[in-house]
Amino acid sequence: MAPEEFLEKADQEIYINTHGPMHLALHFLSHLRAKPHAVIINVSSVLGFAPFALTNPVYDATKAWLHFWGINLRVPLEVKVVEIVPPTVATDLHREREDPDDNKKSSNPSTLSVDEFIAEISKPLENGDETIGAGMGVSLVHQWDVFMGGASSGNLHLGAATTIGVVDHGT
Ligand SMILES: NC(=O)c1ccc[n+]([C@@H]2O[C@H](COP(=O)([O-])OP(=O)(O)OC[C@H]3O[C@@H](n4cnc5c(N)ncnc54)[C@H](OP(=O)(O)O)[C@@H]3O)[C@@H](O)[C@H]2O)c1
Repeated sequence: MAPEEFLEKADQEIYINTHGPMHLALHFLSHLRAKPHAVIINVSSVLGFAPFALTNPVYDATKAWLHFWGINLRVPLEVKVVEIVPPTVATDLHREREDPDDNKKSSNPSTLSVDEFIAEISKPLENGDETIGAGMGVSLVHQWDVFMGGASSGNLHLGAATTIGVVDHGT
């Protein structure tokens, strides 16, 4: 692919994957703040935690952005922010790939069917968990959470508030 074509696609992917959730959240914010049980649910990816699909550097980076953005939003928004962290799920997400079925069980035995994925995330969602993995993503999310001192499960709330309210390193 020519650099110009790559950059055009990359810019579009970054724009959609970051601006989409950001604009939606901010446009609905005043409405959501007026509701007692409002929740913003962002869908990131295991690839935003551990970029092991080296063919998707831009996608992986947008999902890492969504992960950190969501964590940092939790305090200032005053609205619950949940992050769903899917592993490979057998949807039609890869419809533009050479093999659009490379995320189906026939090509990848560790893929979750949509039903399996929904069954796994339903309980933690109902329990009020804030960062929810499925399949191989469960241990990945857990390891990240332990490494980050509980950031994904809400223990960073005080630290995040302090950082946003008092310190601006400009980085
Ligand atoms: N499937 C996986 O293995 C997997 C793994 C990790 C994370 N995820 C994430 O899960 C989320 C849902 O994906 P999915 O697997 O359910 O795939 P999907 O079935 O292809 O759903 C993607 C959705 O995004 C919409 N969309 C695509 N391009 C868009 C654009 N330019 N502007 C606005 N909407 C657009 C599509 O709308 P139309 O139907 O109208 O085209 C579709 O509803 C995505 O954020 C994806 O990154 C998926």
